[in-house]
Amino acid sequence: MSFTILSAAEAASFVKHGYTVGISGFTPAGSPKAVAPEIAKIAEAEHAKGNPFQISVLSGASTGDSCDGVLTRAKAIRYRAPYTTNTDFRNAVNCGDIAYNDIHLSQMAQEIRFGFLGKVDVAIIEACDITPDGKIFLTAAGGISPTVCEKADKIIIELNSAHNKNIAGLHDVYQPLDPPYRREIPIYKPSDRIGTTYVQVDPKKIIGIVEVNIPDEARGFTAPDPITDQIGINVANFLVADMKRGIIPPSFLPLQSGVGNIANAVLGALGRDKTIPNFEMYTEVIQDSVIDLMKEGRIKFGSTCSLSVTNECLDEIYRDMNFFGDKLVLRQSEISNNPEVIRRLGIISMNTAIEADIYGNINSTHIAGTKMMNGLGGSGDFTRNAYISIFSCPSVAKGGKISSIVPMVSHHDHSEHSVNVIITEQGIADLRGKSPLERAKAIIENCAHPDYKQLLWDYLKIASKGQTPHCMKAALGMHAALLDKGDMKLTDWAEYTK
Ligand code: COA
Repeated sequence: MSFTILSAAEAASFVKHGYTVGISGFTPAGSPKAVAPEIAKIAEAEHAKGNPFQISVLSGASTGDSCDGVLTRAKAIRYRAPYTTNTDFRNAVNCGDIAYNDIHLSQMAQEIRFGFLGKVDVAIIEACDITPDGKIFLTAAGGISPTVCEKADKIIIELNSAHNKNIAGLHDVYQPLDPPYRREIPIYKPSDRIGTTYVQVDPKKIIGIVEVNIPDEARGFTAPDPITDQIGINVANFLVADMKRGIIPPSFLPLQSGVGNIANAVLGALGRDKTIPNFEMYTEVIQDSVIDLMKEGRIKFGSTCSLSVTNECLDEIYRDMNFFGDKLVLRQSEISNNPEVIRRLGIISMNTAIEADIYGNINSTHIAGTKMMNGLGGSGDFTRNAYISIFSCPSVAKGGKISSIVPMVSHHDHSEHSVNVIITEQGIADLRGKSPLERAKAIIENCAHPDYKQLLWDYLKIASKGQTPHCMKAALGMHAALLDKGDMKLTDWAEYTK
């Protein structure tokens, strides 16, 4: 079958008001880049005429500005799931203009297949190649592409020549069966391959191909600073100590690393600490730091959902596929983040918190309990099922006005039951085997910033006795002080104990 070549504008004209659009990619890697800006233009033109035009967007994770950004600015998104990082999108969500559903990334594809998110009208998929019988070769991410292709009525392909066709060989495309027919996912080590290198679709569903040459929009990260460096060193020291105690086997266990500046610094420190043997990763995002460590031989293999690397780094991978070809595999988020596989492989998860409370509960997503930052991402998938789950963060934010250690988290993403270790630049709180009160003492003593330690000890004094000591009137007092007085240090517990 031969496919119709469409301009991006022609392809966008198939997307109607009220449609649900499923897209490829995971982070800006592998997301479509040409059709969404044309959908935004249609939305703006319709709005100018006084007509409604909004769509729902379903993706693997965040996308680039040419998708979430342009669509948000055109007020073209009614509903969006899951994770995003775009600033305009974040502002629109926090103004109440977009309905945002922050779903665990491992669950996204199956929730679409189960019908939880309604019908998918159109899939827009970035590809590096396609065959007449409907084999789609993906680019820099697995995302949820096979699922949205299967469920969508129509498929638009963005054939992007900025990607080298060799990247197709990195993909391992596999969709589990749905209950009651689901079997085990047969991955027993990070490098196991269980699927195909392509997504097979019914070619009749492909309404056209948009030919583009647009690089990915992945961002670099801020260089590590003394605080993030110290967090990284603390994480490395913790892992080395657990290895010496025989908790982590001498061959080590596969690592998962979250996104962002802190995750990047932690990986750098792990790479430098040669007491940690060369290791493997089973993770959802690979950033530049992983590729650097792979070149040094420190990382032996990386299983990921996306190559969320800078374009220079991606070009380097393309130029040296002889080296990287057998060291990387790209999976769908349903598999890279799969609880069954994470628990089987014994993954050590390393994610970043916005705030942690003294009992080990974690807020990864909300500022002051209300405003969305980015979203949950895969942090819950990994934390709940990890061999050892670690959260790290600087002990203070915003120049010291905010303590990352608080009596009670203002939003709850990961519970005390799933979190094993909290690490800041101040030190390490190993929560394993501890009661809530023992955890509180370890977290305040080892992780809180000196400016906040006494405040937190004083909170414990006003907390009523119980399995988890709290003073309900004061539990969010530090957040209230931030909102009222601009600084958590100005918390006065007496205000809550009158
Ligand atoms: N209160 C207010 N703001 C806070 C804060 C707090 N307690 N803690 C951090 N912040 C702010 C920082 O000041 C910074 O703001 P800025 O961009 O205006 O400078 C911002 O949050 C990012 O913090 P930073 O310290 O640079 O860390 P980061 O880039 O590593 O991001 C998260 C941290 C938590 C936002 C990020 O890791 C995330 O979105 N995580 C959730 C998803 C996830 O874990 N995915 C991984 C699964 S694989």
